[in-house]
Amino acid sequence: MNVYGLVGNPVGHSLSPPMHEAAYDALDIDARYVTFEPAVDDIERAVDGADALGVSGLNVTIPFKQDVLGLVDPDPLAERIGAVNTVDFSGERPRGYNTDAAGVTRSFAHHDVTLDGRDAVVVGAGGAGRAVAFALADAGCRVHVANRTVEKAADLAAALDDASAGGLDTLDRVREADVLVNATSVGMESEESPVPREHLHGDLAVLDAVYSPIETRLLREACEAGATTVDGAWMLLYQGVEAFERWTGRDAPVEVMNEALRARLS
Ligand code: ATR
Repeated sequence: MNVYGLVGNPVGHSLSPPMHEAAYDALDIDARYVTFEPAVDDIERAVDGADALGVSGLNVTIPFKQDVLGLVDPDPLAERIGAVNTVDFSGERPRGYNTDAAGVTRSFAHHDVTLDGRDAVVVGAGGAGRAVAFALADAGCRVHVANRTVEKAADLAAALDDASAGGLDTLDRVREADVLVNATSVGMESEESPVPREHLHGDLAVLDAVYSPIETRLLREACEAGATTVDGAWMLLYQGVEAFERWTGRDAPVEVMNEALRARLS
């Protein structure tokens, strides 16, 4: 039996185990997906221990994504983003990937949103913001990063081609944009929105990385403005789909995984 897992602290309410185990069941794969919660200063021992014990793959979440970058061989995208969320132990050395980026592009593709040549605004420049911004830039978007802390936005934009940056006072750029992604935690379990509603419009495609609640205030107001909306469960789904495919080499049963996820979100 293969063992996969999620390493983070805390990981208590993760939706990844039911999502991945639904995929194993559907494809008759003999595997389990479990959660691991090492102490925050124990991640190196945890990764080495997982490798030694024959764990097949790990997802990585807060607060370990940056630390794990230095403990594995990261692929070029994970290296540019500066964070690893998926480790594959099947080779000689553990290999690190960042499937959050594919989570963004595959979510938009699922909703028939074209990215190449489009103007995008990314709100946030933390770990999630970096994955989103690299994903959109690599897909051909001109990216504007707006972040509360302007220096972080500027650092991120400097690492991208054809990108700009500013503070939250530059969110009026959304008026001219085709694509908007919220990569901050604003709206999580709250009625706040990271973007003033007067900037939203009908030619926009909006992805909110926040999935709790599933319909955030941003998505509700975007929908009212006539925008295409993509909720955060899609991003969660597709980062998991991408990890599954890297680990198993098989096409993921996307519908089955989506159902397992949404059953626990509604
Ligand atoms: P994650 O890994 O989820 O991206 P993070 O690295 O801590 O978490 O980043 C959180 C992001 O949400 C940052 O862009 C943060 O802005 P700062 O860089 O200025 O801290 C943003 N954020 C968090 N709370 C916010 C708030 N109340 N208003 C605006 N932005 C906020």
